[in-house]
Amino acid sequence: MFNATREPRIVVALDYADPTEALTLVGRLDPRQCRLKIGKELFTRGGPDLVRHVVASGFDVFLDLKFHDIPNTVAQAVKAAAELGVWMVNVHALGGRKMLQAARAALDELPKPPLLIAVTVLTSLDEVELREVGLIGSVEDNVSRLAGLAQQCGLDGVVCSAWEARSLRARFGPRFQLVTPGIRPGGADLNDQKRSMTPADALRAGADYLVIGRPITQAADPSRMLRTLADDIAAH
Ligand code: C5P
Repeated sequence: MFNATREPRIVVALDYADPTEALTLVGRLDPRQCRLKIGKELFTRGGPDLVRHVVASGFDVFLDLKFHDIPNTVAQAVKAAAELGVWMVNVHALGGRKMLQAARAALDELPKPPLLIAVTVLTSLDEVELREVGLIGSVEDNVSRLAGLAQQCGLDGVVCSAWEARSLRARFGPRFQLVTPGIRPGGADLNDQKRSMTPADALRAGADYLVIGRPITQAADPSRMLRTLADDIAAH
């Protein structure tokens, strides 16, 4: 039976080109059952007003803009994001220690800062491409090193594959937030995700928040699909 928790673990990725379509889905979802992620495409089309609107509708918003720039610029950008009232923002760990510390310091000035999360290695990159840009070693080694840097700089956690969650949880402890995309209900279309995991398995592996897009946004009845996924979580 679906149990709306006070702490929804599912973050629905609002991957729409058209803000009106995104808002139609928002109107069909319940903020007690999920949080929402707004990424680069929707933000570039809908802008800060769209974010404010979704926040005002009662949803916790993960503003997934993956900032990566000089420290001062990223510090000002995360602050601007926080002023929109979002729940979570993210930056690239590859921006380096000074950039991560500047983002942390900027948010620490605020009374109620959003969670500050790092992207380590984009899941689209393999070892060959990493080497091409000068990052030697396996994907796992690079993820682990960059997650360690993020933690040292006071970030709240990382975006990672659910397949990396168990080892990251063991290494970085219970308070480090693990945000995992690539989640699919058993038997669902994987789309372009290569290493997917079910919601229950991802939580068991140590994930805190599950980013889920197409299985919900492209379902005939998105709110029913959300309940089905939440049932999967509750049942484990
Ligand atoms: O539709 P789907 O569930 O695959 O959407 C996953 C969401 O998570 C998308 O917004 C995608 O950009 C994002 N994401 C991802 N893999 C990463 C980081 C983010 O799929 N490594």
